[in-house]
Amino acid sequence: MSPIQEVIINKKTSINPIWIMRQAGRYLPEFREIRANNPDFIKLCLNHKLSSEITLQPLKRYNLDAAIIFSDILMVPYGINQKVEFKKNFGPLLGDLNLDKILSIQEDSFIERLKPVYKALETISNNDLTLNKSTIGFVGAPWTLMVYMINKQSPKIKLKSNFFNDQLLIKKILFILEKFLKIHIKNQVDSGAQIIQIFDSWAGLLEDKDLPYYIYNPTFNLVKFIQSLGIPVICFPRNIKDYKKYCDYIKPDAICIDYEIDPLIIRKDIKIPVQGGLDPKVLLTDKENIKKEAKRYLDIFKDHPYIFNLGHGVLPETDPNMMEYLVKTVKDY
Ligand code: CP3
Repeated sequence: MSPIQEVIINKKTSINPIWIMRQAGRYLPEFREIRANNPDFIKLCLNHKLSSEITLQPLKRYNLDAAIIFSDILMVPYGINQKVEFKKNFGPLLGDLNLDKILSIQEDSFIERLKPVYKALETISNNDLTLNKSTIGFVGAPWTLMVYMINKQSPKIKLKSNFFNDQLLIKKILFILEKFLKIHIKNQVDSGAQIIQIFDSWAGLLEDKDLPYYIYNPTFNLVKFIQSLGIPVICFPRNIKDYKKYCDYIKPDAICIDYEIDPLIIRKDIKIPVQGGLDPKVLLTDKENIKKEAKRYLDIFKDHPYIFNLGHGVLPETDPNMMEYLVKTVKDY
């Protein structure tokens, strides 16, 4: 069993495996080189040769314990026929939501559209670089995907006031997302994903009273499904106010925490394995500070099953040498 699985499944403490959200990405010059020749981001995600190569890039540099497939949560809206583009200095831009078109999509054609993702996962899990490491697949949570599908771009700080107006539309989108997210998860697992992470990047936008309908219930259904496949699931409900309540409702196998939450509260309240927390901005400072901040998390979770990670994705302006220093600090702890 790989170190991350030892932590999640066997609740091992003090082995401190590490992987980093967005570990394959823009802070790496070798990624930027490929990206410069591939201006269409979706096409790049669907080029299985390049996407598997990009996935393995950070593993060639650093002693990481996982490979996370180079893909995007918005590949699912793409797979169900909503247009998705990534505009430079703007982020994702989605096309108009045509519900008839989305409701008519067949399972076979969805799988066909996303086949290169599954092919890349096969390549990665068969590569020697992932030996004794975990291959991680992922999806966006239904709530976060629906935010992008209706809002058609990142909501930044808050949702438009009319977001919740069409309740029938919302119900249909949640229904269709649950169906195709399960298909996407199953195909990732069949292609070699040993762990699934669910990213709920916009969980923090909702008021408490809306959590059961938009987050707890739909995410719980996915978690149950992943567990029924015999695979552990890590949930990352970024900026959620009450991580304990979230874990009590959803029962993931591990919880990934953001950098706003006090890790001491997490240690006190949460019984399941914990991942992440360190502010990605720490990597923009100096080695002394990186060591100090990394050790703070390692000290706090030293008797708790803990996977080292950041509290959000690594920033594009990060110096790859600082990443190397962080990985080494965690490994030497
Ligand atoms: O972690 C990894 O290394 C795996 C790859 C991965 C990407 N996106 C590649 C990517 C993962 C796990 C994601 C998840 C994702 N995508 C999330 C959840 C995590 C989070 O960041 O909150 C979200 C919300 C998205 C949607 C998305 N994709 C946005 C908002 C953007 C633009 C802004 C940004 O952060 O770059 C993307 C583009 C994207 N996805 C890039 C990468 C490497 C950058 C593409 C580029 O311009 O080169």
